[in-house]
Amino acid sequence: MARSPTLPTVSHGEGSYVFDSTGKRYIDGSGGPAVFCLGHSHPEVNEAIKQQLDRIAHGYRYTFTSDPLIRLTKLIQSGTGTGFENVLYVSSGSEATESALKIALQYHHARGERGRTRFIARQRSYHGNTLGALAVSGFSQRRRQFEGSLFPCSFVSSANVYRPALEGNEAELSAFLADELEQEIQRLGPEKVAAFIFEPVVGAAGGVVPAPMGYAERVRKVCTKHGVLLIADEVMCGAGRCGTWRALEPDNVTPDIMMVAKGLGGGYIPLGATLYSDAIGRLIAEADGPVNSGHTFTGHTLACAAAAAIQEIIVRDQLIERVRAQGKDLRQLVADHVGHLDAVGDIRGRGYFLGVELVSDRDRKQAFDPALELTEVVRRRTLEAGLICYPVSGTIDGVSGDVVIIAPPYNASSGELEEIAEKLALGLQLALADIKAA
Ligand SMILES: Cc1ncc(COP(=O)(O)O)c(C=O)c1O
Repeated sequence: MARSPTLPTVSHGEGSYVFDSTGKRYIDGSGGPAVFCLGHSHPEVNEAIKQQLDRIAHGYRYTFTSDPLIRLTKLIQSGTGTGFENVLYVSSGSEATESALKIALQYHHARGERGRTRFIARQRSYHGNTLGALAVSGFSQRRRQFEGSLFPCSFVSSANVYRPALEGNEAELSAFLADELEQEIQRLGPEKVAAFIFEPVVGAAGGVVPAPMGYAERVRKVCTKHGVLLIADEVMCGAGRCGTWRALEPDNVTPDIMMVAKGLGGGYIPLGATLYSDAIGRLIAEADGPVNSGHTFTGHTLACAAAAAIQEIIVRDQLIERVRAQGKDLRQLVADHVGHLDAVGDIRGRGYFLGVELVSDRDRKQAFDPALELTEVVRRRTLEAGLICYPVSGTIDGVSGDVVIIAPPYNASSGELEEIAEKLALGLQLALADIKAA
């Protein structure tokens, strides 16, 4: 992507703050797109990276394993609990999705069910920007130029309580959505369906959308009934962001395959991972040999060393517990500062992962005219106010819908959380005044 000439030039970071080359300071209220879970330039993480680099940057996967990789795998598995005995490391969330799709296909191939090649995903979802990951993403803005080259995928309704596919309570909505998934499996023929892929809490495509109560449990049952694998994309919402290591943990649901990325490496060195069960790993190994995925930098030693340092600090300082305990306070803080604005239609999310949906008419949940480009105005005005947040657009249908994502570092102080809420209020007020004057 071409760099916009209007972007400030980053200089350095310090904890929850980022500085540009003019010396202007920004509080990081979103970690870019929910990445920097420990803030910036953490001295212990930097030291771990330097020490590893002084030894070796990378031991190639078919020649060596490494202590950082072994340590990180143990840390991940103590976070996830059982069901994730295999960890395939890659360098991004998109690559993690590619591997998840391939593992699902290889699993069915190994079982002799070679007709299971179809995937089902949801509208308003995002699983990555490579062709395979994009093919299963319900994200029209990013698919547009590539339609025709993307493999076929079915898209069922998004699981959105604020903009529900069916009016009713959360349990009724969950039942409706699970039925819709089952109908699609039946329409395609269960013997043709490899997996259903979903984000337990939708990130950029919907603007932080947690599913209605009972949803995950219901789709788990539908998938099990039809031999369809359940793939949970926790690239954005996982690794503690929602107050538990796995976002699906409170739902008591274990997917067959899961991806993590952003919070795993905390933005220091690119890293993603695809996790899958012992049962899947064994079946593939016995019938077909090793999982046929991975890249040159799979299990990159330096990336694993950085991520292991991050995960060790998170455990030592009980930061996921902190996110869980303070998530409600953060939401309240945001509600106290911006909830009174007429344009704030919904404040939602879990832990340190919040979405503020902006509407032109609160009662009718009417979105702003996309021609106003509210998201861009919010991005500019919040930056001016000294806040990094993550405004996303087209969240309703790929064209309209504006949501501001707030995802602070897990170790942000209470004062810093308050500053984020204050600057969000200031930036939003300025942006809304601009829109009114336009
Ligand atoms: C849920 C989800 N999956 C996959 C991806 C792709 O990750 P990456 O940008 O690291 O390739 C993203 C990125 O935003 C994401 O939010």
